[in-house]
Amino acid sequence: MARRILLIIGGGIAAYKSLDLIRRLRERGYGVRVVLTRAAQEFVTPLAAGALSNDRVFTDLFDLDDEREIGHIRLSRDADLLVVAPATADLLAKMATGQASDLACAVLLATDKPVLVAPAMNPRMWAHPATCRNMRQLETDGVKFIGPNKGEMAERGEAGTGRMSEPTEIADAVDRLLGGDASAMKKAGLLSGRRVVVTSGPTHEPIDPVRYIANRSSGKQGHAIAAAAAVLGAQVTLVSGPVSLPPPEGVETITVETAEDMLAAVRRALPADIAIFAAAVADWRVAAAADQKLKKTKSNSAQTLALVENPDILKTIAAAGPKRPALVIGFAAETENVVAHAQKKRKDKGADWIVANDVSPETGTFGGDRNTVHLVTARDIEGWPPQTKEEVARRLVTRAAEYLQENQIDV
Ligand code: C5P
Repeated sequence: MARRILLIIGGGIAAYKSLDLIRRLRERGYGVRVVLTRAAQEFVTPLAAGALSNDRVFTDLFDLDDEREIGHIRLSRDADLLVVAPATADLLAKMATGQASDLACAVLLATDKPVLVAPAMNPRMWAHPATCRNMRQLETDGVKFIGPNKGEMAERGEAGTGRMSEPTEIADAVDRLLGGDASAMKKAGLLSGRRVVVTSGPTHEPIDPVRYIANRSSGKQGHAIAAAAAVLGAQVTLVSGPVSLPPPEGVETITVETAEDMLAAVRRALPADIAIFAAAVADWRVAAAADQKLKKTKSNSAQTLALVENPDILKTIAAAGPKRPALVIGFAAETENVVAHAQKKRKDKGADWIVANDVSPETGTFGGDRNTVHLVTARDIEGWPPQTKEEVARRLVTRAAEYLQENQIDV
């Protein structure tokens, strides 16, 4: 069973960020059910929250149906954790004094589960002695807090402490509270029953027994993708070139050296529903690698290495055939005209999607922890904001899972 979060959205401008929080939590494998306060509905609609959570949204205490079928007691008991985001000054005051006048308060009063609160309000309201008093009370009651952060407020010219924490910060706090690591959330299900193959890292193409041709790929992005797919319940085979990363938890990792070995290992890992090629495969190998270490020649003239082209693993696997995965995703690391090159690459290689990223040295993508990508599909191009490689991975595998669902590709 997926771990369940009951997300109570209060009525503040930060409520729009809570829609993103729903996505971020689902990407991490949590089931999310949403309660909207009356004031929250001035900022976000039940329809939007319901579409993102893929569940019914609850708004009223005195909805007879809810009281009969689910009720506020069950709503709070069904969850593993209650998250209040944004928690307004009003909501904090109601919680601190144990009120039960609306569904959000009643659920919070009836729960025996941990509660995580992300306050958001004007800095003066945050600093008011009444809010400070309420916070102390709630801390004594065992409520956990994340934020608020310092920064610009929605009101023009206002700055200070009172901004709601960012969705990923809140999701990280949820992970910490629920001991949420890959193994704890594995049964989440979006990809359960699916097989996923991922390539990662560089390849090493031998010149002689001690030298090789390689590139700067760290394997961070590919490894993060394999880990994220496993969290969503997929059976994952990661075919990795030589990297200094530990194998991700819950993933079958096969280590290879050369492009030819990588292709053979990918073929053995098929059939799969999804194949994601994040490896930076060497385009060429030495035609005939020497059996013994090459020596300097007497004349001291430089060696010439004859190169031959390596197989294109992505293109080979994306070619139509009985074992072609339903969704084939490639990467395009470019230093200029990133999107245009990626669109061409998608067609040339027969991939369904290309994740395009700018790897010019000033971006620090190669070997770095962050990545700015565009997702290029047959239909459109999406620019994603700068994110950590883990975030890119989670978003990509969630999108892949949704693609299989939308296209009714059965498990
Ligand atoms: O042609 P280019 O190397 O830019 O293509 C990048 C994409 O193709 C990546 O997804 C990479 O993993 C894949 N590729 C491959 N085999 C190769 C070269 C690239 O799978 N020999």
